[in-house]
Amino acid sequence: MTYLDPPEHTMVKDIANEWFRPASLKKWEDRIRELARQAIAERLRPGVNELDVVGDFALFYPLHVVMSLFGVPAEDEPRMMALTQEFFGTADPEAQREDVAALTPEAAAQQWSATIRDFYAYFDLLVESRRAEPKDDLASIIANARRPDGEFFAKEVSYGWFVAISTAGHDTTSSTLAGILEALAHRPEQFARVRANPALVPDLVNEGLRWVSPVKHFARQATQDYVLRGQQITKGDRFMLLYQSANRDTDIFDASDEFRLDRKPNRHIAFGYGPHMCIGQHLAKQELRIMLEELLPRLTSIEVVGDRRVVQTNFVGGLRRLPIRLDLG
Ligand code: HEM
Repeated sequence: MTYLDPPEHTMVKDIANEWFRPASLKKWEDRIRELARQAIAERLRPGVNELDVVGDFALFYPLHVVMSLFGVPAEDEPRMMALTQEFFGTADPEAQREDVAALTPEAAAQQWSATIRDFYAYFDLLVESRRAEPKDDLASIIANARRPDGEFFAKEVSYGWFVAISTAGHDTTSSTLAGILEALAHRPEQFARVRANPALVPDLVNEGLRWVSPVKHFARQATQDYVLRGQQITKGDRFMLLYQSANRDTDIFDASDEFRLDRKPNRHIAFGYGPHMCIGQHLAKQELRIMLEELLPRLTSIEVVGDRRVVQTNFVGGLRRLPIRLDLG
């Protein structure tokens, strides 16, 4: 989907646009809250917890939410997680596949194709099973979508959707969650404020999205000549849209390098902009809000207790590891 232009892009995006609207997502609020509570109960215990906030906590909840709404069984989640890390980790030594050569541009391309091949093999079975027996899940909506002429969309359309959901749908959100907890650990005053007033959680999520900007870039090609802030752009020029840079733009954000819970307005573009703007934005915000509403009131303190490491990537990622101490009182 990310590579299509209108009108084809619109037709493909429309397959599940309705499902991703805030009004439709309300239906999943209780289910997501249950998953957030379950993640806290399974991964944290009363009292002091010393853990890697990424690998021991943040990574699993968004995967579990998106996979359970999507329709992938829990026992296949580790496979989805491994493929996602390989998909986004073509430049990270910790996410290398064994069946490709070491870190080179060629190896990155090989790793990308090998990962896509594995995703497609898995999704082939998923499409077949949902066409044979549809369920109340997102996979069934996508697999059974039909073109205006009444025929099923080509399987590649479903695969494209499935890969986007299975990759963009959780790594981005877990990076944001870990980044928000790190930001709060370094800012006890803001932590105390949001803990005392959960109505501030949506603002915390929004500032967290700006702050982390887990999607670092997308590439685009100009379809017409244009002058942007005095720069001549020529049809056919290729661009690297740097979301992190835009979200630190000092013309737009006061003190853009400060994390501010009360930042208003906060018109970040962590979800992109225009026709390709992230379809999962409301789901991501809902998941983050629910997790923080559940977690923060129970936390009496957060402290960073070791060195941070980030994923080596120019595409999607954030913290790879962050030793943290969470006190659940
Ligand atoms: C913190 C969480 C997330 C961030 C920061 C994020 C960010 C982005 C960005 C920057 C784009 C490209 C926008 C553009 O080209 O203008 C995008 C596209 C997309 N995202 Fe997300 N995303 C997140 C969560 C999700 C979730 C939860 C899902 C689905 C379950 C999802 C599915 C997609 C899809 C399918 C596209 C392609 C849309 C298109 O090309 O029309 N994302 N996202």
